[in-house]
Amino acid sequence: MTEDNNSATPALPIVVLLSGSGSNLQAIINHITEGRLNARIMAVISNRADAFGLQRAQQAGIPTEVIEHHQFDSRESFDTQLIKTIDKYQPELIVLAGFMRILTDEFVNHYYGKMINIHPSLLPKYRGLHTHRRALEAGDIEHGLSIHFVSSELDGGPVILQKTVPVMAGDTEQILAQRVLTEEHKAYPKVIQWIAEKRLQLSGNQVLLDGKPV
Ligand code: GAR
Repeated sequence: MTEDNNSATPALPIVVLLSGSGSNLQAIINHITEGRLNARIMAVISNRADAFGLQRAQQAGIPTEVIEHHQFDSRESFDTQLIKTIDKYQPELIVLAGFMRILTDEFVNHYYGKMINIHPSLLPKYRGLHTHRRALEAGDIEHGLSIHFVSSELDGGPVILQKTVPVMAGDTEQILAQRVLTEEHKAYPKVIQWIAEKRLQLSGNQVLLDGKPV
């Protein structure tokens, strides 16, 4: 299921990091299977053994690794082990898909320009947790998602793509989260495909798509 597509360009080798449900991982797997994303998932790595995303990976025949953060005495030693594990698979792109860890500068610098994250808010609004609740509490009429290259700032770094969704009367946190997730599942594979096609570049802090600022 993770085999290369029948295209002239070799599939982009990626490693996906997650901590939870893995619905974004599933969207990436589905896009690859359907021939809409020319990538190959070399491994899925989680800091939580009970992450449902690991089962999704196994179902698709993708190697999985668990590195439980509470077994390490520091953030640095955890990230060092994570780097070792990721680099075994020689990915060209690291995809954070609901990976709920604050990363050390060492880790971020090691993959600078080669690691992307998806976050459920219109950054710079609502970094961190409970983004949907915070958007509702603020009375926002628009909410959304951001995909960005990862820098050492929490949920920060040069933005590649944002997608807006409306906040509607009567929305609960769950309804709004689902509306955003539906868009995440389309946007993340699209951005990874841009990278697979070498259409996306990071020049300093500027993101270029087909040579033009996004
Ligand atoms: C997604 O909504 C993603 O944007 C968010 O976690 C969820 C993971 O869902 N990521 C962050 O909040 C990162 N700060 P999934 O496990 O079903 O893909």
